[in-house]
Amino acid sequence: MQKSGLAKCLYLKLGLNRAHLCLNSYLWKSAFTRAMGSRLVLGIETSCDETGAAVMDETGVILGESLHSQKEVHLKTGGIIPTIAQQLHRENIGRVVQEAMERSSISPSQLSAVATTVKPGLALCLGIGLDFSLSFVKKHQKPFIPIHHMEAHALTVRMLQPVVFPFLVLLVSGGHSLLALARGIDDFLLLGQTLDEAPGDAMDKVARRLSLIKHPKCSTISGGQAIELLAQDGDRLKFHFRPPMGAHYDCNFSFAGLRNQVKMTIQKKEAEEGVEPGTLLSCVNDIAAAMQHTVAFHIAKRTHRAILFCKAQGLLPSFNPTLVVSGGVASNQYIRKTLKIVTDATGLDLLCPPSKLCTDNGVMIAWNGVERLREGKGILSYTDVVHYEPKAPLGVDITAEVEAAAIKLPPLKLKIMD
Ligand code: KG4
Ligand code: ZN
Repeated sequence: MQKSGLAKCLYLKLGLNRAHLCLNSYLWKSAFTRAMGSRLVLGIETSCDETGAAVMDETGVILGESLHSQKEVHLKTGGIIPTIAQQLHRENIGRVVQEAMERSSISPSQLSAVATTVKPGLALCLGIGLDFSLSFVKKHQKPFIPIHHMEAHALTVRMLQPVVFPFLVLLVSGGHSLLALARGIDDFLLLGQTLDEAPGDAMDKVARRLSLIKHPKCSTISGGQAIELLAQDGDRLKFHFRPPMGAHYDCNFSFAGLRNQVKMTIQKKEAEEGVEPGTLLSCVNDIAAAMQHTVAFHIAKRTHRAILFCKAQGLLPSFNPTLVVSGGVASNQYIRKTLKIVTDATGLDLLCPPSKLCTDNGVMIAWNGVERLREGKGILSYTDVVHYEPKAPLGVDITAEVEAAAIKLPPLKLKIMD
């Protein structure tokens, strides 16, 4: 316990001031880890468009990490083409893992296990990470820990803060949108999920329809980031988009209808301004602001209901009940502020890992491996056969119970002051 606490303090200190993550502290960390004989885990992520690897000790100290992002390539091709993503993972995984290992100054023989995302995700991409990992563990005769990508997003926060179970978790990214109650490292109750697409996906599609790649400020950033950036100079009241699923008293999400509303507005404005699709509209900031607001509003309403459901069922602790928000879309400050209004009104703590850890990376996979190693859960032999699963629900699905409870929300002003 003492050793873990000391390392955690060190990590938090480093986390607060990244500039201080200098050679000295790095050497100190490594020496500390070696001296204490902490078990080490290599984490590998390839489920979507990031090739990530990290080496972490049992207390959550990152000894070495490396990340190769494919985002710029996919921006140019107008979305993720699975065969291109697969090829990029294939080209980079060896180097990324080697870099993480070299930066950690350890050899494969010092690892206690290798943890790799095997579900859910793009089949072709999961396959690259899994094949690489299986050959690696066979070669070095190491235990293998298969990881659920969403479970890893949900648990990342525990690497930074001692958040105890149960806690509520909202995961919003380009591929996912869900609300779940985390009761243990592999014990989740699914309260709601998207019925069509994820918020990041909807924003990426709108950004492409607006040709934001041509915008000088947005040419290298994701659609969601571009929407947030442009919205800062926009007036959300210039457009009104109907919030999705207002008459459904559950915690499910839907973003496809909103995306269509926005696209119809873009079409109308193009006609009014007499410009061809593909031309940057003059009202692009206002459209971004209005869309961002509606996305935030929808997410906040579903989250508010999930909190009330959990409270009514006695599922949350009375002391320090917590909402954890993660996934790429969780880096959006407007969405975070909207959620803060909800957690303040309901007495929950709102915790969001830093943006770097909200998006896909190898660190969160290594951490999930550490959590499983500590509890001795889901640790396989290097001789075991493992398959990837492109579709994999998170936990036990109780969305029907949430819907049956039909909780009506009390009035709450979701007004963000800039
Ligand atoms: O978690 P992530 O890296 O990958 C998965 O989808 O699993 O999330 C990427 C998604 C993209 O759709 C991107 O547009 C969105 O997160 N995103 C954002 C922001 N940063 C990234 N959406 C809204 N605001 C942001 N600041
Ligand atoms: Zn993700």
